[in-house]
Amino acid sequence: MLATASHCVRLPRLLRSQQKRALTDLVVTPSHKPIVRYGPPGRSAVTGHVVTVFGCTSFLGRYLVAKLAKMGTQVIIPYREEDAKRHLKVTGDLGQIVSMEWDLRREDQIEECVRHSDIVYNLVGRDYETKNFDYDAVHAEGAARIAEVAARAGVPRFVQVSHLNAAEDSPSKFYRSKARGEELVRDAFPSATIVRPGPMYGYEDKFLNNMAVWPIWWKLNHAATKVRPVHVFDVAQALANLHTVPSLPGTFNLPGPSTLTVDYLLRMVASVTYRPPSRAPVLPKAVALQFARAAQAVWWPALSPDEVVRRYIDDAELPGDWDKFGVVPEEIEEHAITYLRRYRSADNFTRPVVLPESRGPEVWVSQS
Ligand SMILES: NC(=O)c1ccc[n+]([C@@H]2O[C@H](COP(=O)([O-])OP(=O)(O)OC[C@H]3O[C@@H](n4cnc5c(N)ncnc54)[C@H](OP(=O)(O)O)[C@@H]3O)[C@@H](O)[C@H]2O)c1
Repeated sequence: MLATASHCVRLPRLLRSQQKRALTDLVVTPSHKPIVRYGPPGRSAVTGHVVTVFGCTSFLGRYLVAKLAKMGTQVIIPYREEDAKRHLKVTGDLGQIVSMEWDLRREDQIEECVRHSDIVYNLVGRDYETKNFDYDAVHAEGAARIAEVAARAGVPRFVQVSHLNAAEDSPSKFYRSKARGEELVRDAFPSATIVRPGPMYGYEDKFLNNMAVWPIWWKLNHAATKVRPVHVFDVAQALANLHTVPSLPGTFNLPGPSTLTVDYLLRMVASVTYRPPSRAPVLPKAVALQFARAAQAVWWPALSPDEVVRRYIDDAELPGDWDKFGVVPEEIEEHAITYLRRYRSADNFTRPVVLPESRGPEVWVSQS
């Protein structure tokens, strides 16, 4: 079909306006790789960045990849299992999500994954040890290996995801390994950004879901342990926002906005799910540890002895650094219904939401 004269005139002008570049669209990174942005904001835009997300198949990883891809960033997603990364392919436009097989012990594969990137995120982590990888192998040596290879390949920026409670003198091996990982990453990549989120909640979390299904394991320490839960969307947004600032070296804490007791959270879960609060007994630590050790005989991930130890450790009362990332974290009560509604029985499905009237004087709460 022939186009009208007015179409003929308008089309090139439209194309010209879409392809217009401003000087601000050109960024030259410290490694002298130019980053050229174009297109309107949204999925079809191009931010010019190429980013690698190790641990992309994690709970946090899926939201980070989706946010980066939605901005128009090309995301390299290293994966171990073919099916584990399938859902990520559709989070970006055609060609924006590039999957590459990798092994944490193979430097050549890590190098292939970071070669074209200007930001590398390391989200790799494990709540429990396996026969192939202990905590140190994943959180310390693994993180250091990725940071070293990225530095060698000339990647300008490295982002390491640690944990709010990472400490070298922690009773938990998990937290100790996270602290060691931070140190090794700093040595290998001095300008690295190290972020330390608090316990995260969301659809696929091991926090609210676990409280709804296994309240007995949260009653350890008489449910008096203090936690600072943070929404996974807020952490993912903070990480995604990092590519809008040229560099942010240092260690930054991303705790939730409030410190709450586990007891308060168990009561909140009970009230949102319309289930009576659990009457399970409070297990002594020694019994819980014995049980967790015995549970290691099964081949699926079960509560590990180190997780029992962690249930007795209060979250660190460190100030949050959210302002550096341009994110204001939200309270858990605002989102709990979204993730807990599925635990309501069908009989209760149409009842209105009733949250606890207040956190009550017996609940230790502080605002940060
Ligand atoms: N969840 C929280 O509440 C929380 C709080 C603070 C900090 N963090 C940290 O944030 C990061 C993401 O947490 P998450 O809960 O989203 O993680 P997750 O769901 O447990 O996923 C762990 C990720 O690490 C990868 N991984 C583990 N061991 C690996 C190995 N040996 N080789 C290669 N890849 C390996 C997994 O890959 P596969 O899929 O191939 O197994 C997966 O992508 C972790 O570093 C975690 O420690 C989490």
